[in-house]
Amino acid sequence: MSSDLAAGPRARIGILISGRGSNMVALADAVRDQRIPNAEIAIVISDKPNAAGLDKAKERGIETLVIERRGRPRAEHDREIIAALGAKNIDLVCLAGYMRMLSPEFITAYRRRILNIHPSLLPAFPGLDAQMQALEYGVRISGCTVHLVDETLDGGPVIAQRTVPIHETDTVESLSARILAEEHRLYPEAVSAVLPQVAIKA
Ligand code: GRF
Repeated sequence: MSSDLAAGPRARIGILISGRGSNMVALADAVRDQRIPNAEIAIVISDKPNAAGLDKAKERGIETLVIERRGRPRAEHDREIIAALGAKNIDLVCLAGYMRMLSPEFITAYRRRILNIHPSLLPAFPGLDAQMQALEYGVRISGCTVHLVDETLDGGPVIAQRTVPIHETDTVESLSARILAEEHRLYPEAVSAVLPQVAIKA
């Protein structure tokens, strides 16, 4: 019997992206290295056909799917995504730079099984350009947050946070890079903390 079988069924993770996909890569590498144990990335779905993360997923042998937004109503677009996740028996959905709010139907279908990562210490600075918001507000500490997703923008119970100092000389670029490095550590840790509480389909 292989060690995987001995450990029971593997959790099937679906990742939603819209762009660069560096957090998706961080999760995929953590699964590969068993820092997220007993799991697999079963699919990466993008709402943008030109998302750079798609090639990064393919390079890692991960199945990808584009479900284009194309100005479609959110509910209709989400129904197609829910069907694709269902076809893959997904246990946990990870948003990784996915730039569209989810419909109530999506939240209900995967309640307490959707995670997001955001580049601020939520509930401070939700929404777009969180790093710029932090700089403009003048806070001295920012960071990143992994949270369960609810119906509100960047809302839902916090799972994990990491602080990042802001320096006098910081630009949006330098702060974003410092926060992103922490995101790549925090997201895999948060996923491995959450997975044991997610009912895994056999
Ligand atoms: C990250 O900063 C993440 O926190 C935010 O969008 C960005 C996505 O970057 N939600 P990437 O696509 O994971 O590289």
